[in-house]
Amino acid sequence: MAAQISPSILSADFARLAEAAAAVPNADWLHVDVMDNHFVPNLTLGLPVVESLLKATSTPLDCHLMIEDPDRWAPAYAEAGAGGVTIHAEAAKAPVRTLRQIRAAGARAGLALNPATSVEPYEDLLSEMDMLLLMTVEPGFGGQKFLNVVLPKIRRARTLIDKHGGQVWLQVDGGVSADTIERCAEAGADVFVAGNAVYGTDDPARAVEELRALAEKS
Ligand code: DX5
Ligand code: ZN
Repeated sequence: MAAQISPSILSADFARLAEAAAAVPNADWLHVDVMDNHFVPNLTLGLPVVESLLKATSTPLDCHLMIEDPDRWAPAYAEAGAGGVTIHAEAAKAPVRTLRQIRAAGARAGLALNPATSVEPYEDLLSEMDMLLLMTVEPGFGGQKFLNVVLPKIRRARTLIDKHGGQVWLQVDGGVSADTIERCAEAGADVFVAGNAVYGTDDPARAVEELRALAEKS
């Protein structure tokens, strides 16, 4: 499958989000990090900003909910029109129900795992999701160092997904850059979130293309 690039607007100027979206017309997705200062020690944005962004761009939104009680909040992001909504396994109390609600509202359903969360307990849930997100930093902030310790889990997740039929996308998020994207692709990831590596450069669209080329080389 071709590599997909999802620039994270967490690294963009929050007063100019429409411009940040327009700066990457070649992106497959725009990654939107929703943080509540409870599940992670940072506070970003919520549904009203997502609703405004949906009007400001035609790029599909890849909403990554780093919040407590995603069972309560996630379906509304799908109903608003997000292309994908990802919830954390560590926070969801009823992940099967919530993933089904996200799909029923017409969005791709994603399940995210922190670096220390094993993938094996979620094998039976692969049929309930369209994307598995493996965090390659501890969630909460952009610009952190990529955690190589997650690479074996990416490989094991790829094996489980292939065994299951290969329909589930495997996303990596955190510290993904020109230096680290090849090892993620080689391990089996196919959707790549990049914040600093895109918005920390002078030419975000060019950064997207460079990351895509490196990922597809692997
Ligand atoms: C971190 C967020 C990431 C973040 C990645 O908790 O989930 O999406 O924006 O930023 P970089 O690519 O700079 O590590
Ligand atoms: Zn994210």
